[in-house]
Amino acid sequence: MVNVYPPSEDTYLLMRAATSEARPDDSVIEIGCGSGVISASLIGRVRSILATDINPHAVKAAASLGLPAVRADLFHGIRSRFDLILFNPPYLPEESELDPDLTEDHWLSAALNGGADGREVIARFLKGVSDVMSPRARILLLISSLTGLEEVMELARASGFTTEIVARERYFFEELYVLKLRSSALR
Ligand SMILES: C[S@@+](CC[C@H](N)C(=O)[O-])C[C@H]1O[C@@H](n2cnc3c(N)ncnc32)[C@H](O)[C@@H]1O
Repeated sequence: MVNVYPPSEDTYLLMRAATSEARPDDSVIEIGCGSGVISASLIGRVRSILATDINPHAVKAAASLGLPAVRADLFHGIRSRFDLILFNPPYLPEESELDPDLTEDHWLSAALNGGADGREVIARFLKGVSDVMSPRARILLLISSLTGLEEVMELARASGFTTEIVARERYFFEELYVLKLRSSALR
């Protein structure tokens, strides 16, 4: 399906981190589920999982894998709280604006375009995510060296989270990281 982000190296890195982090009693939400393969890999391993995406084609793809799936801009409209929050966000710095017509290009670009510094969607996520976090919540956030590792960790700390790199993988032109964030108020 070309209007949904195809599972790629970043997908599988986050999937492995999620599999090792998830506990049987966790309620899990995946923001930006794309094809849904990460959420699908957790079926039967966790108490519940909800897949969400801003892209309606992604919501359909996730539902076709047997997942409860809803369309949402980040967690807007989501009223529950979760123990594990997964997000492989649009993380690449892009000069170009999103194509305003809802074409295939729009949805593929929305999967990767993190705004001028690559951190625009991540910053919005960090600002509001505590509204959907249970007291024991952990967040797994995938980013690239192109997003700016130090900058994202600083943004997370300034938003009230502790940060830990739990997975990393180097590629030809970038390094991918999975950050585990927890509310620093819990320490
Ligand atoms: C890099 S892709 C990752 C897709 C999938 N999780 C994976 O790892 O293959 C980013 C996903 O985030 C979604 N997305 C972008 N902006 C979003 C937003 N504001 N709210 C929810 N999802 C968003 C995109 O539609 C896309 O499916």
